[in-house]
Amino acid sequence: MKILVTGTLGQLGNEISVLSNEYPDFEFIFTDIDELDISDPIMVETFCTSYQPQVIINCAAYTAVDKAEEDESLAYLINTTAVENLSKSATAIGALLVHISTDYVFDGKNCIPYIETDPTNPQSVYGKSKLAGEEAVSKFASKGIILRTSWLYSAFGNNFVKTMIKYGTERDELNVVCDQIGTPTYARDLAKAILDIIPTAILQSGTSLFHYSNEGVASWFDFAHTIINLAEIECTVNPIQTKDYPVKAIRPNFSVLNKSKFKETYKINIPYWSDSVKHCILRLKK
Ligand SMILES: NC(=O)c1ccc[n+]([C@@H]2O[C@H](COP(=O)([O-])OP(=O)(O)OC[C@H]3O[C@@H](n4cnc5c(N)ncnc54)[C@H](OP(=O)(O)O)[C@@H]3O)[C@@H](O)[C@H]2O)c1
Repeated sequence: MKILVTGTLGQLGNEISVLSNEYPDFEFIFTDIDELDISDPIMVETFCTSYQPQVIINCAAYTAVDKAEEDESLAYLINTTAVENLSKSATAIGALLVHISTDYVFDGKNCIPYIETDPTNPQSVYGKSKLAGEEAVSKFASKGIILRTSWLYSAFGNNFVKTMIKYGTERDELNVVCDQIGTPTYARDLAKAILDIIPTAILQSGTSLFHYSNEGVASWFDFAHTIINLAEIECTVNPIQTKDYPVKAIRPNFSVLNKSKFKETYKINIPYWSDSVKHCILRLKK
């Protein structure tokens, strides 16, 4: 089975690339913007027509949440228009499109984990552009899987784990918000879940929406505290409130995702979030 991966140089794309050796039945075509700019419809169509992948995994995205507030057109180009391009080309060649979305499509007013059918109400440009991307998949892809995930980190790229290790090493104290609740998700676990569901998902028709994050619940403060402890760094982590850490984009206060639909459909076990943080930190130490 031929699988085209976009945005390979990002966190998720890199983790899929690392895991690819464990999937000998899959033939991977790894691309990032230089090989395949997904915002270019002609390039997407030409690439898909010549390589004829059975599956396209879209790991490409505009993920700079605060920058997106001032860079709306580029966020929409990559998170919405480009997803429309991929959806149309996937449909033209009969491929399954696996697309990744975000917990930031929700406003955070829930106090129990969000299910797929809960109403969306994104509060940021990033969240709005990603929701419009989901709508593009539903409208234009004949076979699509949309996976909403949250608080992604990995051994690659810039992310919260690496930032906490860097600042924790440089400073005696760190202040981290304790009133935004969600679930950290290890991109390696998500990458493995995506590759594991492909043989089943390829048989489906239409578009399905799923939630996938690691198991459990944490605040950013809990996440930071765990990272600092597991990395054995001498640094005090202080809980602070969101109002004391002003940023451009509004984040949901609560964005825990209910993963029952994914687990029941694909019979996949999901690791607990801090076990996965431990795995990532051990990799980083190596
Ligand atoms: N990061 C999170 O906390 C988080 C949370 C929830 C959901 N998600 C979603 O999870 C998915 C994977 O996120 P990630 O953190 O792995 O993203 P990432 O690290 O930002 O990687 C995205 C990759 O896409 C590339 N890209 C940008 N524009 C492109 C284009 N026009 N054509 C092809 N490639 C392009 C980027 O290149 P440049 O770096 O050069 O721009 C980068 O290599 C995304 O859909 C994201 O929205 C992420």
